[in-house]
Amino acid sequence: SVERTLSIIKPDATRRNLTGKINAMFEEAGLRIVAQKRTRLTKEQAETFYEVHKERAFYGELCAFMTSGPVVVQVLEGEGAIAKNREVMGATNPANADDGTVRKLYGESVEANSVHGSDAPETAAQEIAYFFAGTEIVG
Ligand code: CMP
Repeated sequence: SVERTLSIIKPDATRRNLTGKINAMFEEAGLRIVAQKRTRLTKEQAETFYEVHKERAFYGELCAFMTSGPVVVQVLEGEGAIAKNREVMGATNPANADDGTVRKLYGESVEANSVHGSDAPETAAQEIAYFFAGTEIVG
């Protein structure tokens, strides 16, 4: 079925001017960018977005990293978009990511891994609503 997923191009990737190259990989995989904005997250936004990880040792560092530069938040739409985006991204740790994936090509570390993508339909809906009003998503 046609799904939507929330994607974030992270500060390590915007710093290296990789937005277009990463977007091309999404589009070549059949994902459509139906909403997109470049922004700098506040500490509060990063902490709330990653709240599920708040007990993890990496939470503070992760939130600091995510506010260290611009991000591009976007909604990707397509057939099976959540799983498809996860395939295009590759494993969380770039060291474990398959050849040809975004994280293998561009990820610098498990933290600076260039992209975030929603992991399930419920989280996709929550994450999309966190960043976008319905009227900002144009399918
Ligand atoms: P992301 O898909 O954005 O979701 C949570 C993020 O935590 C993950 O990508 C990584 O960038 C980051 N992270 C940092 N350290 C770790 C770790 N040890 N295990 C998993 N995720 C980590």
